Amino acid sequence: MDLETCKIKQTQATAWGNGAELYAANLHEGSGIMMPLIAAYAETARAEVKGNPLILDVASGTGEPGISLARQFPNGSVIMTDLADGMIAGAKGRAERLSVKNASFDVADAEDLSQFKDATFDVVTCNCGLMFMPNYERALAEFRRVLKPDGLALMSAWGLPEHTQLISLMLGMQAAVAPNDSLFADPNILGSREKLVHAVERAGFSNVSCREVNVPMHIPADKVRVALVQNPLIRRMAGAAD
Ligand SMILES: C[S@@+](CC[C@H](N)C(=O)[O-])C[C@H]1O[C@@H](n2cnc3c(N)ncnc32)[C@H](O)[C@@H]1O
Repeated sequence: MDLETCKIKQTQATAWGNGAELYAANLHEGSGIMMPLIAAYAETARAEVKGNPLILDVASGTGEPGISLARQFPNGSVIMTDLADGMIAGAKGRAERLSVKNASFDVADAEDLSQFKDATFDVVTCNCGLMFMPNYERALAEFRRVLKPDGLALMSAWGLPEHTQLISLMLGMQAAVAPNDSLFADPNILGSREKLVHAVERAGFSNVSCREVNVPMHIPADKVRVALVQNPLIRRMAGAAD
């Protein structure tokens, strides 16, 4: 792994891990911002998956869509993984609070899933994770490798900047205060439907379909302020103690 990639991954692991509590509260708890998108995973899995699947959720953050799918398939089983141990601790905590028993957790880089054998999983999911990965092609190849030949992969990336103004605003602020601590090679690399489908097909998936899901980001101003203030890069810039 080159130095730049290594740095991006370290920044990812620290930044996401430090923000896990806030992430869960705003994006996953109750009617959290991410939940309309998570509902789309549950809906597709309900229609397409039979029996008691073994599911791998990659870049789970504080446990979605893994926890929702574990609840949907109580006789199946879900392994949730993420690069950030803070996020995995948050996912474990949420699963315990929700009495989810059919789940396990692992810190793992999506670009190297070598702890899992070929053709292991019935379902692989990755919600809003790919665009953070410096080599997302390698991650997609790993998803394909660990998925059974007739398995189902569900994944998403956010859209282009004109549809993701709040994300662009937050990334813009971060780039302004900490230009050397980027979380991304390119945050919009999979923003268009064509690019996403092309990348997935190139990784060897077939029967690929793509749908747009609108995720409203109506965040009260005080919560946006808290999110920015808690961002470790912005805190560092402001000279705040970690
Ligand atoms: C926007 S969050 C998505 C979390 C969750 N899937 C959700 O739907 O809310 C992106 C997640 O990707 C994780 N991530 C970034 N790079 C990763 C990598 N190379 N391997 C695994 N996880 C990664 C981050 O730690 C973070 O938890």
